[in-house]
Amino acid sequence: MTEKNVLWAGRLEEKPDAAAFSFQSSIGFDKRMALEDVRGSRAHAAMLGKQGIITAEHAAALDAALAEIARGLETGALAFDNEAEDIHSFVEGLLTEALGDAGRAIHAGRSRNDQVATDFRLYCRRAGDEIRAALKNAIVVLLDRAEEHAETLTAGFTHLQRAQPVTLGYALVAWAAALSRDRGRFSDALTRLNECPLGSGALAGTTLPLDREVVARDLGFARPALNAMDAVADRDFALELAAACAITQTHLSRFCEDVCLWASEEWGFVDLGEKWSTGSSIMPQKKNPDFAELVRGKTGRVNGNLVALLTVMKGLPYAYNKDLQEDKEALFDSLDTVLANLRVFAGFMGAAVFNKAKMEASCAGGFLEATDVAEYLVKKGMPFRTAHECAAHIVRDCIDKGLKSIGEAGLADVQQHSALIEADIFAKITPRACVEARNLPGGPAPDEVRRQIAALRGDALRANG
Ligand code: ARG
Repeated sequence: MTEKNVLWAGRLEEKPDAAAFSFQSSIGFDKRMALEDVRGSRAHAAMLGKQGIITAEHAAALDAALAEIARGLETGALAFDNEAEDIHSFVEGLLTEALGDAGRAIHAGRSRNDQVATDFRLYCRRAGDEIRAALKNAIVVLLDRAEEHAETLTAGFTHLQRAQPVTLGYALVAWAAALSRDRGRFSDALTRLNECPLGSGALAGTTLPLDREVVARDLGFARPALNAMDAVADRDFALELAAACAITQTHLSRFCEDVCLWASEEWGFVDLGEKWSTGSSIMPQKKNPDFAELVRGKTGRVNGNLVALLTVMKGLPYAYNKDLQEDKEALFDSLDTVLANLRVFAGFMGAAVFNKAKMEASCAGGFLEATDVAEYLVKKGMPFRTAHECAAHIVRDCIDKGLKSIGEAGLADVQQHSALIEADIFAKITPRACVEARNLPGGPAPDEVRRQIAALRGDALRANG
């Protein structure tokens, strides 16, 4: 540990030993926010100069040195000092080393408490935007595939039992709708996040005449945070983003569970292709959906990170406590994981080859048309509960006779259950007819699914959606 990196040397003469120092240091992970720290420092230094809190010469020297640090970070020419306490100490240390008194002037009216809250918000804004872009891409992939398969019949399931005929396009729009809400959740969180903590100091603001409005604007925030104590103690933005990540990842996990089922030999609905499968080290015949499984598996850590963050926050007395340093690794991991998983998911969904014949065959033989028989009777005036019983008796009859669908029964057989049934019923209970008749808003009829696709495309194109 080099002394130049300790910002509190004036108060404590003794230092923790190397192992203890490294236990409490955060540069190992907060170096990710280096460019944000530089950006925030430039805004702060420029404002200090304009307000006459530091000299114009110092302000100019700081700006040039910070620009140089940013260049060094971007090109990789500047290496991190892993013995610095955190990224804030590292950057301030570089300034002091390079500029002497100008470097020693920059921390006026600032604390690492408002600095870290600002850097973290700036970082989250960037990462959140990347996730929103990845969500949009995944939504567009699903909608493109849905359009392609708006007419591809397949069984819809409840209780993992075949339930009613739908289309693949309809099922893919269901997924896209969930991801579209996720995109909205990230947007909402980023809107609420967009207030600037700088100028809050340690917890009680400062006696120096800072211009918080100018700094907030300079950094692209909507406004300075309202209350300094809240601004340094608050991590709601991290919780909200961690929750948005957990919900998104949970969605991906459910989709991937379906994909794993669909890719099985038993279902045979989808071929993920060799590029999106892996083999077995022992069983030569295997082609496993490892990518989908791993997306499902990664959900554990993302959901765990949310609980970890909530647990860090509960019981924290106001305002700043070092516990808050634990906010970053958990959220970084969630943001990284969701971004990577969205990209992988969009990749294999774009490449998947669906087996239309197998999907269509899944509509046959399970009496998936039974509800349509009941609704046929309702349209003829029968109360629904009576119609439900009547259709159930027809199904039982068919099963007793070894038939696989109501369509295989004779007209006379079904008429025994209700005289309201006429020959036109058979054309109305094919899987395609069942789907096409469900053309209300929200239904699986192909034209209605195309309308849903257009609506979600509109959402995906809206910048702030
Ligand atoms: N590394 C710290 C964090 O991530 C920065 C703030 C430190 N403030 C303090 N008073 N120790 O939270």
